[in-house]
Amino acid sequence: MPNYIVFLGPPGAGKGTQAKILAEELGVPQVSTGDLFRAMKTQNTPLARRVQEIMARGDLVPDDLTIQMVKERLAEADCERGCLLDGFPRTVAQAEALDELLQNTFHSQVGIVPLMRISEEEAVRRISGRRSCPTCGRVYHIDNDPPKVEGRCDVDGTELVHRADDEPEVVRQRYQVYLKNTAPLIDYYLDKGVLAEIDATQPIETVAADLKAAVQKAIPAK
Ligand code: AP5
Repeated sequence: MPNYIVFLGPPGAGKGTQAKILAEELGVPQVSTGDLFRAMKTQNTPLARRVQEIMARGDLVPDDLTIQMVKERLAEADCERGCLLDGFPRTVAQAEALDELLQNTFHSQVGIVPLMRISEEEAVRRISGRRSCPTCGRVYHIDNDPPKVEGRCDVDGTELVHRADDEPEVVRQRYQVYLKNTAPLIDYYLDKGVLAEIDATQPIETVAADLKAAVQKAIPAK
């Protein structure tokens, strides 16, 4: 049965950082809806432009569009054994759609939901120092997790960028959107018995070790 892991937490909590580390350990892909939407940037269509505008404001892309995109991504061959969902679901409607999809199409369910919490101030601090690779999606921090060569991705050498939605006022808006729309998923997954709180304020390696232990406990076969 494929395994699905859902990363939950506000902007800057380290979802992308940890999903990348764990994806390598488990040999399953990281599916980041943020990365999928950012990849639409190259398409010069009205829909792609609308998505970029919504993201630049720090608001959520509509559920129907997001759910359809995830359905298509999960049907791809590399997700056969499951995947790490980073940034999805973000609303109760998305969580319900995911449950339905996993049950009806993949005869599976969400195995564990690591919850990573940080304060709004820490989110702003971390994200101001974030640099991202537009090619492979690897994220760095200028102080906490710098690349080996300044401004260049360790993996593929691409020039690192500061995301358009990483300005402090947009990060604060994204944090408020998280509290209003996504935080209700904490109770949703608590009720299902799959929530596992991880102390996201620790150093990256410690968070990774805690996460690995929680996943091994919840999904012993892995
Ligand atoms: P998305 O790309 O998913 O952004 P996010 O959820 O706001 O999360 P971030 O990527 O900002 O943070 P992260 O938790 O991954 O932290 P990271 O590991 O990078 O979404 C962007 C936009 O797309 C949304 O605003 C929305 O418009 C749209 N969207 C996406 N999904 C959607 C959905 N499902 N529905 C509707 N709309 C959707 O780490 C941050 C920084 O901190 C890095 O520099 C990192 O090096 C550093 N760091 C990480 N861990 C630590 C640590 N333990 N200690 C110190 N520094 C650390």
